[in-house]
Amino acid sequence: MKISIASDHAGFEEKQLLVDYIRSLGYDVEDRGPQSADRVDYPDFAVAVARDVAEGAADRGVLVCGTGIGMAVAANKVAGIRAANVTSPEFTALAREHNDANVVTVSGRFVSDEVNRAIVKAFLETEFGGGRHAGRVSKIADIEQGRL
Ligand code: RB5
Repeated sequence: MKISIASDHAGFEEKQLLVDYIRSLGYDVEDRGPQSADRVDYPDFAVAVARDVAEGAADRGVLVCGTGIGMAVAANKVAGIRAANVTSPEFTALAREHNDANVVTVSGRFVSDEVNRAIVKAFLETEFGGGRHAGRVSKIADIEQGRL
């Protein structure tokens, strides 16, 4: 499984730690930057990861900013992206099981690296539940396509 990852300056240090962690779990990682902690705009990096996932160049995406909120708002503007901003592994598992989240966004400023690692692990290891959730997720695509 290939994982596309990026951050802004506020998430840079945590992104570097997560790149190493995700690789240590055995996944391929595409690091979409940045490559320094210089100030940048989070939408520029959210869109790179979101397009990787939406276009099939990556299976899932991970985004890190100060809160994770801006990254989620921006990534969710790309059709096909279901980005969840989470602060616990429990919510992450539910975002996978119920919402089939294909991008997770985390906070580099308010959540510890230990918790973010647990979030990323849950994100990569939890399957979509399907069943009653499948129809609901398909309605999200209906909204994107103007059918709902
Ligand atoms: C940058 O200061 C900060 O606004 C950004 O990292 C993020 O938290 C936005 O949602």
